[in-house]
Amino acid sequence: MGSAVTAATPPAAAARAAALRQTIAEHNFRYYVQDAPTVSDAEFDGLFRELQALEHEYPSLATADSPTQRVGGAPAAAFDGVAHRVPMLSLANAFSDDEAAAFDRRVREALGVDLVLYAVEPKFDGLAVSLVYEDGVFTVGATRGDGSSGENVTANLRTVRAIPLRLPIDAPPLLEVRGEVLMLKRDFESLNAAQAAKGDKLFANPRNAAAGSLRQLDARISASRRLTFFAYGIGSVDWGGRDAAPPTQDALLRHLAELRLPVTRERAVVLGLPGLLGYYRAIGARRGALPFDIDGVVYKVNDFAQQERLGFVSRAPRFALAHKFPAEETATEVVAIDVQVGRTGALTPVARLKPVFVGGVTVTNATLHNEDEVRRKDVQVGDTVIVRRAGDVIPEVVRVVPGTRAAGSRPFAMPTACPECGSAVVRLPDEVIARCSGGLVCPAQRKQSLLHFAGRRAMDVEGLGEKLADQLVDAGIVRTPADLYRLDAASLAALERMADRSAANVIAAIEASRETTLARFIFALGIRHVGEATARDLARHFGSLEALIDAGEAALLEVRDVGPVLAESIARFFAEPHNRDVIGQLRAAGVRWRDEAPQRSPPGRFAGLAFVLTGTLPSLSRDQAKALIEAEGGKVAGSVSAKTNYLVAGIDAGSKLTRARELGISILDEDGLRQLLAPPRD
Ligand code: IVH
Repeated sequence: MGSAVTAATPPAAAARAAALRQTIAEHNFRYYVQDAPTVSDAEFDGLFRELQALEHEYPSLATADSPTQRVGGAPAAAFDGVAHRVPMLSLANAFSDDEAAAFDRRVREALGVDLVLYAVEPKFDGLAVSLVYEDGVFTVGATRGDGSSGENVTANLRTVRAIPLRLPIDAPPLLEVRGEVLMLKRDFESLNAAQAAKGDKLFANPRNAAAGSLRQLDARISASRRLTFFAYGIGSVDWGGRDAAPPTQDALLRHLAELRLPVTRERAVVLGLPGLLGYYRAIGARRGALPFDIDGVVYKVNDFAQQERLGFVSRAPRFALAHKFPAEETATEVVAIDVQVGRTGALTPVARLKPVFVGGVTVTNATLHNEDEVRRKDVQVGDTVIVRRAGDVIPEVVRVVPGTRAAGSRPFAMPTACPECGSAVVRLPDEVIARCSGGLVCPAQRKQSLLHFAGRRAMDVEGLGEKLADQLVDAGIVRTPADLYRLDAASLAALERMADRSAANVIAAIEASRETTLARFIFALGIRHVGEATARDLARHFGSLEALIDAGEAALLEVRDVGPVLAESIARFFAEPHNRDVIGQLRAAGVRWRDEAPQRSPPGRFAGLAFVLTGTLPSLSRDQAKALIEAEGGKVAGSVSAKTNYLVAGIDAGSKLTRARELGISILDEDGLRQLLAPPRD
């Protein structure tokens, strides 16, 4: 702003603008903080427009703390980082009365007193922020981030009407206010109604809506969402040498309220454990009727001198505790059990539920985690089940309500073919997770496998990152890695945000990737458990892809470091016709590699023998024993089966030893193993 403009601003206009700013701030405070407006919306709008007009005429009057600046400016490219002057710590959690009692006991013992005065507050379910006021003016607002530094969201926070842009005249020179940004339940409902009307995505709960609204690079969007704020503490502060520092949490909050910062009325000061639990229960009973979501209560030793004596443990104060409400549970009916395929091919059974309201959101799905879990809980379609939802956690089925099973209902069975692509579903012996074996062709896994295929250590297609992979797969342009080699620069350049130049670069990188090594190609296929080193071993051992494809599990087990799990995974991958098709297509597209002269390591004396280790050996660690066995070509498996040749048992051997005895398997101690390993005498 040039001085010419300032010089041209008549003092009367400046005085009127200052008066309007103060009046508007006052009305904002009555409306947003006290919830008790004293003027009509029309009167308020009149004042606001008068100020806007003045600032328009005399731009030097449009200061950063003017209420007209709450609308958000031009979008930012990214948030800057803000280092917190005092770290933003977290709170220790308690979930039971016993844990609350233990907290009170620890505090009393550490302070050497019989009874403690506590400040008790709701635990707001929103986002922690820090607001820095310098000489009473709001200058920097930041998210908590990792506690040491967060994101600079000043522009977004300015749009929150409950946050004063300027504090009253008697504010300290520096005051960092800590508190929580939230969306009131009623504002959340109207936001979601508006989102639904526009066909936009709905928010799961007020917390997510608040987070999504605050972390908008375009502050105008934040401005359009109704957020609010409650202060619950301070960070760094300079009380200005006066005798103003409040001595207790309660006095601090009263002081913040005098400075026109919003402080909840739902707080109290209580005495001892009965006071804590009384508050917990009282507010728990009114939880649903509160205008905002809370997920528990916070207990704080009221006296700051006592707080200081208690100090901190790691990242949490010893003087405070979050006593959380239990996860909410409710009953509903299982309409179906579907199986979802994740990006790594993991199959997860999901219960489709009759919609039910629990823990603040309507739940229609709940995870059943895995096949064993479904069996253990014995969940069947048509059953009435208890569903639990805690905080942000995915809702889960807790148990079946007995006696609700319909006649003719049947137990759940994991499909044998992937619901997405029809490839075989595989569950390896030691794993609880069943997986789709159609790595390269399964739509659910396409992005993942494409990224892996193009990765630097695989086919090394520079420029094919997550964004491009998403676009290519979403647009249906690339279904399998072989499709990459059919792309041209024109179809790439047609994608959003893809300049001609970068399209040409990606095409060049794809071209260059056609020539590769056998090891890289094997790694690029993304066979489960096959890392770079194994891919190299496989290439060296078999020399050609054909030999690898034709190798059965037994031949695979001869490769250095390949155990039963890996051998089965590799054999399964190549047994899947879809995967062989893609390999054929890649070849047809001109992907080439040099075959190698097979270098089979000479079979060791343990070649073809399977060992299992159990218990603690007197001198060898488990890894050392395993390495010795494998160096001789033996395999070490995790569990005893009819295929096991030797069990090596140490102290405290348990069920594996019993099982080996039942099966009549040779049992060795460490000495026995060493004798077997000793070079043969001739
Ligand atoms: S005091 C030293 N008071 O809970 C910790 N925190 O784990 C100072 N929270 O994300 C925090 N309501 O944002 C405090 N009345 C309250 C709170 C509260 C919610 C959040 C806080 C932080 C988490 C602490």
